[in-house]
Amino acid sequence: MKVLLVNGSSRENGCTFIALSEVARVLERDGIECEIFQLGKGPIRDCIGCGGCNRNACVFNDDCVNTLIQKAAESDGFVFGSPVYYAHPSGRLLSALDRAFYAGKPAFAHKPGFAVVSARRAGTTASLDAIQKHFTISEMPVVSSSYWTMVHGNTPTEVLQDAEGLQTMRNAAANLSWLLRCIEAGKKAGILPPQAETGNKTNFIR
Ligand SMILES: Cc1cc2nc3c(=O)[nH]c(=O)nc-3n(C[C@H](O)[C@H](O)[C@H](O)COP(=O)(O)O)c2cc1C
Repeated sequence: MKVLLVNGSSRENGCTFIALSEVARVLERDGIECEIFQLGKGPIRDCIGCGGCNRNACVFNDDCVNTLIQKAAESDGFVFGSPVYYAHPSGRLLSALDRAFYAGKPAFAHKPGFAVVSARRAGTTASLDAIQKHFTISEMPVVSSSYWTMVHGNTPTEVLQDAEGLQTMRNAAANLSWLLRCIEAGKKAGILPPQAETGNKTNFIR
């Protein structure tokens, strides 16, 4: 089993990375392979709504989004992390998620995950909400914790002092680990994900 942890901060070893690393430590303790995927510092295009998504790929091939979709297809669970910018997730994470989920929804469906955010002070729950909206329109089970999955700090050193934030990361990771093992046991017992009903797509006016 593998979990993909996406760092939506361009500060590759910053506060969000500390939170993701705490999650990874618990998952690895339980024998689950982890990869921290850095969105990095380079430009990431936003979705242009062209409808050209093809075979689980975005039309744009000049950034990391198609690699993200490929890695998602090979993963069993997800953690998406972001710093809070003006009370929302980083633009780079939102651009990557919009394109990856629009072009590559099957790579995420029926796989559990959660979001983590890092902030100096405020905007955390609004940011969690924005990230998790991608999960809840994509048939992903959302994993919870003992508190909302946030850490506080402006530097990695400050985040390491956020004892409750790190505890929340560990509890979320333990719940993800448990759910992944339940899903695997279910598959072995013949319990497979449901096939979603399709056919009705209305835009309120018809
Ligand atoms: C452009 C920008 C906007 C920010 N906006 C907020 C904010 O709205 N609320 C907040 O608490 N911190 C805000 N911060 C601080 C970061 O969220 C905080 O330092 C975070 O832990 C950085 O994570 P990172 O090291 O993983 O990038 C902002 C930082 C930047 C650069």
